[in-house]
Amino acid sequence: MVRFGFSSVLAAATALLAGVVSAAPASELVQRQGAAAWPNGPLHTEGRWMKDASGNTVTYAGANWPGHGEIMIPEGLQYQSVEYIVSKLKSAGFNAIRLTYAIQMIDEIYDNGGVDIPLDKAFVQGLGQVNGTRLLAQFLSKNPQFTAKSTRLQVFDAVAAELAKQQMYIHLDNHISRGKWCCGASDNNAFWGDLDFHPGNWTRGLAYMAAHGKAWPALMSSALRNEPREPTSGPAKSTYNWETLYKYVKQGAAAINKANPDLLIFISGLNYDTFVTPIVRGQALSPGQTRFAWSDFAGFEDKLVLEIHNYDNNQGSCSALRNNLYNNGFEAHSDSAVNKFPVLLTEYGFPMDATTWQRVYASCIAQFTADNKAGFFIWVIVGSYYTREGIQDYDEGWGVLNHDWSDWRSPSYVQNQLIPQIRGTLAQ
Ligand SMILES: *[C@@H]1O[C@H](CO)[C@@H](O)[C@H](O)[C@H]1NC(C)=O
Ligand SMILES: *[C@@H]1O[C@H](CO)[C@@H](O)[C@H](O)[C@H]1NC(C)=O
Repeated sequence: MVRFGFSSVLAAATALLAGVVSAAPASELVQRQGAAAWPNGPLHTEGRWMKDASGNTVTYAGANWPGHGEIMIPEGLQYQSVEYIVSKLKSAGFNAIRLTYAIQMIDEIYDNGGVDIPLDKAFVQGLGQVNGTRLLAQFLSKNPQFTAKSTRLQVFDAVAAELAKQQMYIHLDNHISRGKWCCGASDNNAFWGDLDFHPGNWTRGLAYMAAHGKAWPALMSSALRNEPREPTSGPAKSTYNWETLYKYVKQGAAAINKANPDLLIFISGLNYDTFVTPIVRGQALSPGQTRFAWSDFAGFEDKLVLEIHNYDNNQGSCSALRNNLYNNGFEAHSDSAVNKFPVLLTEYGFPMDATTWQRVYASCIAQFTADNKAGFFIWVIVGSYYTREGIQDYDEGWGVLNHDWSDWRSPSYVQNQLIPQIRGTLAQ
């Protein structure tokens, strides 16, 4: 609080001084100072808002860029350069990217004596000898700053550097433990303790990436885990509940905060992170009696953010959908909430054809995020995946970009709904 108050005074004094000594128009000054300061982190929260170091509100209007597939590098780079993809996203007005990764990547670094594995190995591991070798060559021709011996983390680093250069915030998301398409109830990654979801590997991976990300100027926040869900079977089925989730939320948040105290930490809920209601309402976290408590996050209470996903794609009523969004989490924005937090819709999406965007679901969410200044990340930018669910070069019909990542898949959607949604959500 003291830090915040002081920097506000300083900012006001600087602005006053600038006004006296310079004849430049005010708008230009603001822009120049803003550009110099970006991203003006670390971010913190004040009630329902995310704030920068000067107390300005920061809202994310972003897109999901997966990097948690079998190769475990950000998708699309066999078709376009890092710079091309970031520039394309920037051109729509997006100001943030939800960048996903798999814990397996960090496990392999530890197994390999602390050194990440090279791209030639990662491509072959992910796609097989023949296609892995061919796709790596394609990747290198589009992104010649790398070699076959560059590492996966160096690809993440390059994406992070380009996002910083183009002033887009990074939100890091642990999407899954084993690198592959997510998420199902029987994929062994459903809940803490599931066959591939080892809690110790998970906290170690969160901490590793949070520490590694100190070198990424645009990195402002990290999630704990994408879409906790009930496993169909196995050791974690019987412990799937709010009490267990909260136990691991505390462990994961502590691991991230210790490794990198600057980061905001995003908390997700049960049933594929479709609701966080018991946290917002301060209800008993069943089957236990404990409730969410700020004191469980002592020293970084102002770093916590909630996230939900919504895929009620067949919803025919916008008022019903708004009601659901409120009850599932956005109630935390209201003054009457027991626990107030910023809430973000970190996933929603729909088929990118000529007409789906005009139906209730997409148009209602576009209006909702703008009306509520609610941060969002659309699922997904991907035009095609290196591989998904056993199919290589998988075409993503929900992708904002087309198959070769060169242009919008649905230009009418981007012009008529996405760009206005981004502008409306970011308008102060
Ligand atoms: C290798 O790539 C080709 C062309 O995309 C594809 O038809 C084939 O199925 C791939 N091989 C494997 C093992 O997926
Ligand atoms: C945990 O990480 C180790 C490497 O340190 C790895 O060998 C092991 O398979 C991982 N466990 C799970 C369940 O993924």
